[in-house]
Amino acid sequence: MNYPNLKDAKIRSDKEVETIMVSNIKSDVFKDKKFYIRTYGCQMNVHDSEEIKAILTNLGFTETSNYEEADLIAINTCAIRENAHDKVFGFLGRIKHLKRENPNLIVCVGGCMPELESVTNMLKEKYPFVNIVFGTHNINDLGQMILDYTDKQDIEVYSIEGDIYENIEYNRDSKYTAWVNIMYGCDKFCTYCIVPFTRGKERSRRMEDIINEVKELKNAGYKEVTLLGQNVNAYGKDLKLNYNFANLLENVAKTGIARIRFVTSHPWDFTNEMINTIARYSNIMPHIHLPLQSGSSKILRLMGRRYTKEEYLALYHRIKTCIPRASITTDIIVGFPNESDEDFRETLRVVNECQFDGAFTFIYSPREGTPAARIKDTIPLEVKEKRLQELNELVNDYSLKANQKYLGKIVKVLVIDKSEKGEDKVCGYTETMKLVNIEGAVEDMGKIIDVEITDAKSFSLDGKKVVFVNN
Ligand code: 5AD
Ligand code: SF4
Repeated sequence: MNYPNLKDAKIRSDKEVETIMVSNIKSDVFKDKKFYIRTYGCQMNVHDSEEIKAILTNLGFTETSNYEEADLIAINTCAIRENAHDKVFGFLGRIKHLKRENPNLIVCVGGCMPELESVTNMLKEKYPFVNIVFGTHNINDLGQMILDYTDKQDIEVYSIEGDIYENIEYNRDSKYTAWVNIMYGCDKFCTYCIVPFTRGKERSRRMEDIINEVKELKNAGYKEVTLLGQNVNAYGKDLKLNYNFANLLENVAKTGIARIRFVTSHPWDFTNEMINTIARYSNIMPHIHLPLQSGSSKILRLMGRRYTKEEYLALYHRIKTCIPRASITTDIIVGFPNESDEDFRETLRVVNECQFDGAFTFIYSPREGTPAARIKDTIPLEVKEKRLQELNELVNDYSLKANQKYLGKIVKVLVIDKSEKGEDKVCGYTETMKLVNIEGAVEDMGKIIDVEITDAKSFSLDGKKVVFVNN
């Protein structure tokens, strides 16, 4: 048994990060058994679930999309806002009867939520039918935990700064696009955010390991990689090997893989070198997710974001000037404690100036243990909800306007899936990360094709495949 605690989770020391080669346990103990996995949260969690799936298939399980017929249910959780938390406990409530009907069912809860003491205590006291609880630092122990499973609850969650794991196997969800971790953790400690507590300190994978992974993916036919980190601009700083994110981007570009994306960038250490590298390589996609969080410098200071509204705008315009075709998306939080109406209006003014291609918007959710959660908040929820609605209307207008600029244009789209808009349609993304539903391209899965845009909505485009005829 190992329990988390937020005090240890906050520690940042000079302790050297170890690189640990994971041993991928193979066994057929669970041959003919089925697993169901449910994932909440960000891309990092989606990618962690690809690791969990590989661990489970290595034990003999096969995946099912129906949790009622599963022999093992795994829930990979997110702690970023209270509603993610509520969804997990709601789902646990729904599966409780399955465990009564089938006492051999194994229930595993992992990821960010168990990193919070309050959650682990709740699982211990109120959800004893959960067999295995693990955190973000020991996903690779899951295989052994399952092999050792008894009907007594096993809780193994660590509040450590964290290490780097190599040799991880993944059951990737796509054959064409792949996530690649370049770093883990976060040291920014924005005052509202729980991530630095749940995912440990900023630590980077070595460049050669990342490049090798990208080369292997390219050789396996992958067309796109997305480099993942809570704050990719900080890549390399901890290694002290004299390379940074711009150097990494350049070397990934030189592998010749068709498309490279990266998330997430913090506006604080977004360098000109990075902008120039993105501009220089045609296989680095011109889409930047640049969280604003608030347009008020006062609130940004309270959030601990390390930039002012003016600095954000200057960076925004620098990117747009150097990479005119770049699309820029953002994250915005409304209702941070004591955000005044004027602070909120400032956010709207920044949105009006930047005219973002898209924005994820949230009502501030206090996270126990973070500095912001201790600030007394005087703004009523109805006011926050009204602000969110007003903001959403504005950002959706700009998304639609940004999409309308594509009407009649021919763009390159990587086809990745069947479309939800009809049997004869497929879907994919433009270089600028616009979702397109495409006619006439069912044969083109995994290919980058030319598409003429015929209709534009707020959240997607419609188009048809263009075939160039050589005379
Ligand atoms: N409340 C609301 N939104 C949050 N985010 C992070 N922490 C919180 C919180 N406590 C948002 C930020 C971040 C995105 C991933 O989630 O906008 O960029
Ligand atoms: Fe959270 Fe800030 Fe780190 Fe992003 S940069 S993960 S918002 S602490």
